[in-house]
Amino acid sequence: MRALRKRSRVLTGILAAALELAAVSALAEDQPPAKDTIFTRKIVMGEIDMNMDEIETMLAPEGKLELADAQEHAEVISTLLMAFPHLFPPATNQWKEGATRDPATDTFANPAIWSNFGEFYKRASEASKIAWNASRTKKPDEFRAQIKELRLRCNGCHALNMKPE
Ligand code: HEC
Repeated sequence: MRALRKRSRVLTGILAAALELAAVSALAEDQPPAKDTIFTRKIVMGEIDMNMDEIETMLAPEGKLELADAQEHAEVISTLLMAFPHLFPPATNQWKEGATRDPATDTFANPAIWSNFGEFYKRASEASKIAWNASRTKKPDEFRAQIKELRLRCNGCHALNMKPE
């Protein structure tokens, strides 16, 4: 018990040091280029999409549900959805009406995100929580219900926070 507490104190110290470092580099404007952050969040979303696709294929009428396998995918989605909203520094607010965009590298994030970031963050957290709940369900029917709810959250967030290509 004592060893554990000690380790967690050490971890807290490391975390605090890392956060301090992050704050210092932010002050120095030593940030990763916006285009790299945009690319990263698109990769993260692409990964979320692939995991969701695996699950929905298993849940389709002609699919075969392997619950443990599907739940691992749900857990990955949960983790990625937790990280996702941290990839929206103000410099990455770059969508513009009428501009030609490369779907592979340019952002489709609606500038509205930055005018109510708290709301966006909350949506991501709630969706992450649902994916987590799905990963912990005991019965296929409960899993199915959580995934249905998760899909509504994907689509709901996109409807508000994404511009069409
Ligand atoms: C909190 C809001 C939110 C939630 C929840 C959300 N998304 Fe997204 N998604 C976005 C935003 C914003 C973008 C646009 C990112 C950009 O272009 O910079 C995006 C982009 C995408 C893309 C396009 C990726 C690309 O290559 O550009 C796919 C596919 C996608 N989401 C799938 C999903 C799936 C599947 C879920 C649910 C499991 C989901 N999203 C949940 C906000 C959300």
